[in-house]
Amino acid sequence: TWTPGNIIDDQVAAIREQVGDKQVICGLSGGVDSAVAAALVQKAIGDQLTCVFVDHGLLRAGEAEQVEKDFVAATGARLKVVDAAEVFLGHLAGVTDPEQKRKIIGREFIRAFEGAARELDAERHIEFLVQGTLYPDVVESGGGTGTANIKSHHNVGGLPDDLQFALIEPLRTLFKDEVRALGAELGLPEEMVQRHPFPGPGLAIRIIGAVDRERLDLLRAADLIAREELTAAGLDRDVWQFPVVLLADVRSVGVQGDGRTYGHPVVLRPVSSEDAMTADWSRLPYDVIAKISTRITNEVREVNRVVLDVTSKPPGTIEWE
Ligand code: XMP
Repeated sequence: TWTPGNIIDDQVAAIREQVGDKQVICGLSGGVDSAVAAALVQKAIGDQLTCVFVDHGLLRAGEAEQVEKDFVAATGARLKVVDAAEVFLGHLAGVTDPEQKRKIIGREFIRAFEGAARELDAERHIEFLVQGTLYPDVVESGGGTGTANIKSHHNVGGLPDDLQFALIEPLRTLFKDEVRALGAELGLPEEMVQRHPFPGPGLAIRIIGAVDRERLDLLRAADLIAREELTAAGLDRDVWQFPVVLLADVRSVGVQGDGRTYGHPVVLRPVSSEDAMTADWSRLPYDVIAKISTRITNEVREVNRVVLDVTSKPPGTIEWE
C-alpha cells in the first residue's frame, strides 16, 4: 500500500544505490517539488548533497527566507545562496515585453546556476543533479529519461557540455498531492509544502510595465495582504492560485486621507483550476475581497484602487503576462 513512509524508504534506498559515494547538486526554487526532492536526497545521502538557491529578487515576501532558514532548519542541508537580484534587475531594467522578460530571466538563471555549479564542482567533483520532475511532467514530455525536459527555467536544461550531470529524479512516479504528503512526512514547513504554484519568472510577470525595486516592493506588500487574508478566511485550499498584479504603467485618480491621489491599481486574480490548463475565476466571498481591498489601499503606498479579474481561462491566461 502507498504511504509516504514506504515511498520515502524505497526512494532513500534507490538514491543511495544510484549515488554511491559521489557528490550531488540540487537547485532550489522555493517551490514544493524541488524542496521535497532535495529533502529526500538529503535524507538518503546527507552531506554528499549541496543545494543551490539562486535568489533572483523576484520572489514574494518571505519566500527567500523560507528557503534559507526554514528549509535548512528542517533538513540540515548544506545550502549555497547566490544573491543575484542586482544582476537580474540590471538586465530587466526598462524591459516591458513579457516574452523578453522571460527570456532574460531564463538566461540569467542558467548563468547564475552554472556559475555556482562550477564553483562547487571545483571544490568537490559533482556527478549528479537532482530534479523535482513529477509524473505529469514525465507523461507530458513523452516518458523519456536522461536529459532534462524543461518547462520552466528552474529545470536546468541548458548547462554546457563540460558541466553535465546524471539526473536523480525521485518524484518521477508521483502526483502533486503525493509529493505534498511526502514533504509533510519529511518535516518540511507547512507553508512550503502547501504553496500554490508560482511561476519561475516570479513577480516580474506580475508587474505590467518595467520591473524595478520600488515596484517589486509595492507588489510584494499587496500580495502579502492578499495571501494573509485568504489564509485567515481558511480558503487556501479553495483556490488554485491567487496572483496579484500591479498595473505599474496605469494611474488613476483617487482620494485618500485629505487629498487627491494619482496612484496605481492592483488586480486580484484568484482562480480555481485542476491543472492550470483551464481555470475559472474564484467566487471568493465579498467580505474577503473587501477586507483585502481596504487593507491594500490603506497599507500600500501608491496603490489607490483594487480591481477583481472575472475572466476565465480561456480566454484569459492565469497570469497577466
Ligand atoms: P498561464 O498564465 O499560461 O499559466 O495560464 C499557467 C500556469 O503556469 C504558470 N506559469 C509559468 N510557470 N514559468 C513557469 O514556471 C513561466 O514562465 C510561467 N508562466 C506561467 C502560471 O503561474 C500558472 O500556474
